[in-house]
Amino acid sequence: MSAPNSDYDPVQVTPLDPDQVARMVSDALAAFAAAGDLDALKEARLAHTGDRSPLALANREIGALPPAARKEVGQRVGAARRDVAAALAARQIALEAERDERVLVEEAVDVTLPWDRAPQGARHPLTTIQERVADVFVAMGWEVAEGPEVEAEWLNFDALNIGPDHPARTMQDTFFVENEDSGLVLRTHTSPVQARSMLTRTPPIYVICPGRTFRTDELDATHTPVFSQVEGLAIDEGLTMAHLKGTLDHFASSMFGAGITTRLRPSYFPFTEPSAEMDLQCFVCRGASVGDPDNPCRTCGSEGWIEWGGCGMVNPRVLVACGVDPARYTGFAFGMGLERTLMFRHGIADMHDMVEGDVRFAAAFGMEI
Ligand code: PHE
Repeated sequence: MSAPNSDYDPVQVTPLDPDQVARMVSDALAAFAAAGDLDALKEARLAHTGDRSPLALANREIGALPPAARKEVGQRVGAARRDVAAALAARQIALEAERDERVLVEEAVDVTLPWDRAPQGARHPLTTIQERVADVFVAMGWEVAEGPEVEAEWLNFDALNIGPDHPARTMQDTFFVENEDSGLVLRTHTSPVQARSMLTRTPPIYVICPGRTFRTDELDATHTPVFSQVEGLAIDEGLTMAHLKGTLDHFASSMFGAGITTRLRPSYFPFTEPSAEMDLQCFVCRGASVGDPDNPCRTCGSEGWIEWGGCGMVNPRVLVACGVDPARYTGFAFGMGLERTLMFRHGIADMHDMVEGDVRFAAAFGMEI
């Protein structure tokens, strides 16, 4: 930079030399072109257009020129500064566009990537089937009844006309609590809820009771010591086997499809008389596979029917034990295994899948059964 204006000597004002100014411009343009990103361009901008840049300093010298020289020099330096500013602006726009394009690529969101890395839990199909069963009966005006899993021996057996010598009471079937004399067992079926319902309600009684039950079976492909049943009990005036059959048919078709019916085969339970095993019409072949070796049915083994549970008219002895007048009321009851129901409904081959609690098994059932 030259000396103060008072000592002005035009010959020494080298910054205003046309070649010098042209070099300042070309230096600036080269620096802008070389700037690879916006940060580098900012540095180049400060260096070539800032207050202390050669062009700014040259501009400042103009005022020191004799008035006659100012116009020409002023126009030249002004043009130089405009050229530099235009080049800067163009480079700025180019680099911003480049950055925007890069950001679009680098920060692109792939909406197809998995987002739920923490897998959600799933409701167990045994839970959902219990709710579905309850829904079917609640829709008919029945109530859901519950009983404890640790049950009084009297309710699990005696009240249900299962005498002290009945084989079901022996250690082979029953989990006794603490010792055989405690009077408590893990309920071996949901039928004690029948007794509880009759003892706590006044007829008419219509209850459905899904719940967990226990027997001393080893866990294998078809058995589990902890399993689930659903019990139904209806006590009213004038109930007959026909009401039982109609209820079971409605239950079967709500669970397995319209038109699926049940079949009753004579059987024996101490707490029902008469008693029956109930079979479900095969919901896959609907009986068509029977006697047709060319079209075997895996679900029912070409039998046309699947064993579903037990049922019958409530034994008057049970009514009496539970405080219901057998001269006025009759009732029917039924009970079926839910694991079994799920196994043939969904082709589950191994009970282990049902009890192991692997969420991958449960998740496959989705929100519904
Ligand atoms: N409680 C019986 C069982 O566990 C099933 C059943 C229930 C039978 C109700 C008749 C009436 O096998």
